[in-house]
Amino acid sequence: MPPVITCVEDLRLLAKRRVPRMFYDYADSGSWTEATYRANESDFASIKLRQRVAVNMEHRSLKSTMVGQALAMPVALAPVGLVGMQHADGEILAARAAEKFGVPFTLSTMSICSIEDVAENVSKPFWFQLYVMRDREFIKRLIDRAKSAGCSALVLTLDLQIMGQRHKDIINGLSAPPKITFGNMLNMSTKPRWGLGMLGTKRHTFRNVVGHISGLDSMSSLSAWSASQLDPTLSWDDVQWIKERWGGKLILKGIMDAEDAEIAARSGADAIIVSNHGGRQLDGAPSSIAALPSIAQAVGDKIEVLMDGGIRSGQDVIKALALGAKGVFIGRAFVYGLGAMGEAGVRTCLEIIQKELDVTMAFCGLRDVKQVNSAILVPGTY
Ligand code: GLV
Repeated sequence: MPPVITCVEDLRLLAKRRVPRMFYDYADSGSWTEATYRANESDFASIKLRQRVAVNMEHRSLKSTMVGQALAMPVALAPVGLVGMQHADGEILAARAAEKFGVPFTLSTMSICSIEDVAENVSKPFWFQLYVMRDREFIKRLIDRAKSAGCSALVLTLDLQIMGQRHKDIINGLSAPPKITFGNMLNMSTKPRWGLGMLGTKRHTFRNVVGHISGLDSMSSLSAWSASQLDPTLSWDDVQWIKERWGGKLILKGIMDAEDAEIAARSGADAIIVSNHGGRQLDGAPSSIAALPSIAQAVGDKIEVLMDGGIRSGQDVIKALALGAKGVFIGRAFVYGLGAMGEAGVRTCLEIIQKELDVTMAFCGLRDVKQVNSAILVPGTY
């Protein structure tokens, strides 16, 4: 009997059974105490919705836009590293699911499938996320590769100049591909679907990077390379040259403070993502949903405000929209779908979120997602 999936949590539980521990844990973790990671999810729960009755609920629409692109609903797939280790060819499958659904897929710099791998396997433009490394020639080439692949937005991550510590990755000895150790072999022997999929693909390492940098052809040198290459000197001046070289829609990711949001708005970027990197960087930072209202208030009329962090349902989406986001990104939610059931799991995740968003909007007395604002929330609960 195929498992019955009713919500994103069902997908998470199935992914936990089907994905090797080191990759499941990589996604399902935050830095240090994981307090911010947990708050991202739990802070949504205290925000209450106003139930309205006897209003016409027929002919509803979730259609919206992000950075000027028309979408089936205001939700994009967030950039996540190592997606191709959650499921064989994971980035290609997630991109296909997103494309069929009508929402953007964002490919991480630290993906397994490369920009070119994804471009060859989809027919509509996807988005590309950029980490800035010390090797600026490589970064310039990466931007140019994203342009050649027809990517329609660049998501520039500003909150990972150095990397937060996630304890589980150290304990599990995270690497891609996994090292051949007794513990890894034992754990992978309980994940036959995953293993069969991986035997059927050649995409096992960080293909945006390996083979594109001279002297870098193995994973062990890559981990050393990324630790030494993430650029701690990244500045707003870099945002300018990246913006110029890219020349297209630019989204700045990792804004958690109204002062930074003001600078971002002046930078000429098209949008910001209010994000604490899924609670994976500064543990002790507020949740994204807690940070959103003051940022939206400060810059919402100057730059498009998007958010990510803790979204596990359509109800979370509508709360973020009510608090000033034009759209949201889902990371773990789609990764759980992918680990659970491949492309079908990502589609299921999007369908679940769409339905929850649609029905919640109706219960709140609205028929068009573009009308959502803080009037749908119970005062004093946000
Ligand atoms: C990198 O993006 C990470 O959060 O692991």
